[in-house]
Amino acid sequence: MADPDAYLRQPRLTVHGIPMINAFAHNWERVDTFQSRPEDIVVVTFPKSGTTWVSEIVDMILQGADPEKCKRDIISKRVPMLEFSVPGKIAAGTDLLATMPSPRVVKTHLPARILPKTFWENGCKMIYVGRNAKDVAVSYYHFDLMNQLEPHPGTWAQYLEEFMAGRVAYGSWYSHVKGYWERRKDHPILYLFYEDLKEDLRREIVKVAQFLGQELSEAALDTITRHTSFEVMRDNPATNYRKVPPELMDHSVSPFMRKGTTGDWKNHFTVAQNERFDRDYAEKMAGTDLRFRTQI
Ligand code: A3P
Repeated sequence: MADPDAYLRQPRLTVHGIPMINAFAHNWERVDTFQSRPEDIVVVTFPKSGTTWVSEIVDMILQGADPEKCKRDIISKRVPMLEFSVPGKIAAGTDLLATMPSPRVVKTHLPARILPKTFWENGCKMIYVGRNAKDVAVSYYHFDLMNQLEPHPGTWAQYLEEFMAGRVAYGSWYSHVKGYWERRKDHPILYLFYEDLKEDLRREIVKVAQFLGQELSEAALDTITRHTSFEVMRDNPATNYRKVPPELMDHSVSPFMRKGTTGDWKNHFTVAQNERFDRDYAEKMAGTDLRFRTQI
């Protein structure tokens, strides 16, 4: 059995040209050869963009808006992450998914270019969640401070440079958000924004339900909206990642459910960092009509 400690704070590896969490990168054939099913629902995001939030919304919709049913297990078991693996410690996402009945909800952070072809070929519905790059960078920095499967992120100033250069797990935020924005033209992808969810959660839940072909009563909608508020998810052991072994996630450094706001970047970016970021952003996002809000 592999020594799970061998994966803590290790340098990233590369899969298909994308920087990948060391523990996940081994035996990548399991991901490349994964078999999707046409009924699979894929929740796909760049990390720290609202994956857990939308996963819980989808599970609530599929479970008839019953919060108790959504407490049947922790979110990482109800909505397994395709590429997840800590050999010798926690079952691989692909193994977990293989045992699940349909419709499965599959979480992944893989960029469109390296998402296994099976999902495209089977026409699987995908829900993409985008979040503005500045808040993602801040959230990712705090996550890498507490997530022992990632290398230590260093100082905020150092980390921001790495983020802009795409030298973080899953690579370039800029390519990621644009990749799925393009693919939505030829594939059933519901493209959501974290900022829209913050602005009007109920409205966005309706969008998700419609996309999944589900009708929700007003009462069900009320329940899902309440159940997926930041405060309720932060205090819910089935969604707040507190059950992850502490040697993997150290919530005392920074909790997984950290702030849950839009605009926290203003508390971290210096004026100079913000100007440099904006210039670089304009270059990397030139030519796309994809727009993010950095405040609401
Ligand atoms: P912050 O670090 O800015 O607080 P992911 O699930 O993709 O890893 O994203 C995690 C981010 O989403 C964290 O952001 C977390 O607090 C936020 N989040 C999770 N659930 C949320 C909710 N119900 N409402 C608002 N933000 C939420």
